[in-house]
Amino acid sequence: MRIAVIAGDGIGKEVTAEAVKVLTAVTQVTGRSIDLEPLPWSADYFLATGITLPPNGYAMLRDEFDAVLLGALGDPRVPDNRHARDILLGARFELDLYVNYRPVRLIDDRLCPLKDRGRKDVNFVVFRENTEGVYVSVGGRFKAGTDDEIAIQEEINTFKGVNRIIRHAFEYAAAHGLKKVCMADKSNAMQQGHALWQRVFKTVASEYPGITASHLYIDALAMFLVKDPGQFEVVVTNNLFGDIVTDIGGALQGGLGMAASGNIHPGKTSLFEPVHGSAPPLAGKNVANPMGAILSAALMLETLGATDEAARVEAAVEAAVHADMTTGDIGGKLGTSLVGDWIAAKIQKP
Ligand code: NAD
Ligand code: IPM
Ligand code: MN
Repeated sequence: MRIAVIAGDGIGKEVTAEAVKVLTAVTQVTGRSIDLEPLPWSADYFLATGITLPPNGYAMLRDEFDAVLLGALGDPRVPDNRHARDILLGARFELDLYVNYRPVRLIDDRLCPLKDRGRKDVNFVVFRENTEGVYVSVGGRFKAGTDDEIAIQEEINTFKGVNRIIRHAFEYAAAHGLKKVCMADKSNAMQQGHALWQRVFKTVASEYPGITASHLYIDALAMFLVKDPGQFEVVVTNNLFGDIVTDIGGALQGGLGMAASGNIHPGKTSLFEPVHGSAPPLAGKNVANPMGAILSAALMLETLGATDEAARVEAAVEAAVHADMTTGDIGGKLGTSLVGDWIAAKIQKP
């Protein structure tokens, strides 16, 4: 396995170091060969060189690596977030990583922020469309900086884009024995673009008679995710709504530091990253929770077919949570690197 590692900015660097530690440990134990190649692309690199990623960057990821492991990108010294747009959003677009897979699974009842809820209530997956919506930067600013400014940011919804993510959600449900798929949109207000989501959802749902297809407006979905998350098995939604509801999903898992994700084009080089960002206030303090990054590495292993290794990593993370060998955000007393050490050691001696 050849993996490109883009640690990025802020706590991205710290949590990625722990994910690399754990990947090294698990592949040593099972004897699988892994080549973890660090790439410097980050705010530091951009500020030093003026380059966000080299011209052949996307082709290099696609052609030379089996997967990409990313920490986080975002730095107050790059206020327009240009490097994150090129590196992260650029990879999503250029590698056509149309599935943003964000599982929401609570590891221990103790971490649940909701009253009288626990593991049985927090166990679903979100499929976020990852290549269109408002993220495409179609639009512009006219008379920028004046009182006459007009700012336009279009939302792009294509049949191809909507169809492939909704199909993926149903295929995932069918393959995993799940019975419920809920699509969330804002078709009551966005009567053009989201009519397409309505049409495609009805068509695809009709091909899966064994699966109960339901619809919620996105505002109601946000409410039900807090009030009664146990009703969800598979949620599918657009790029922006998926971004927002998966931060709620992070909170349901104990905090953003627990949430993992995969930016996937089935069968092609895909990118795995924690759901959280670079968290500037936490950076450099050895307090960031590395579990979201480590669980993202497990998702990567699973997607690449290294299911034994993925299961070992997940089991070790669960053991760390149950044993309270965690960072402070989820109640423990350890620093970032000691959590990684504990998980790596657990993998070596289960
Ligand atoms: P954030 O996810 O970085 O942090 C929000 C808050 O969540 C933090 O202040 C902290 O309280 C908590 N948190 C996040 N990760 C944690 C962890 N691992 N352990 C413990 N607590 C954690 O979101 P933000 O502050 O809105 O964004 C900061 C920067 O990160 C911005 O530049 C943003 O654009 C960027 N960002 C990048 C990504 C990515 O690269 N995938 C994702 C989200 C945000
Ligand atoms: C995420 C992040 C990104 C997004 C930002 C950094 C552009 O919040 O991956 O969830 O909005 O997709
Ligand atoms: Mn986000």
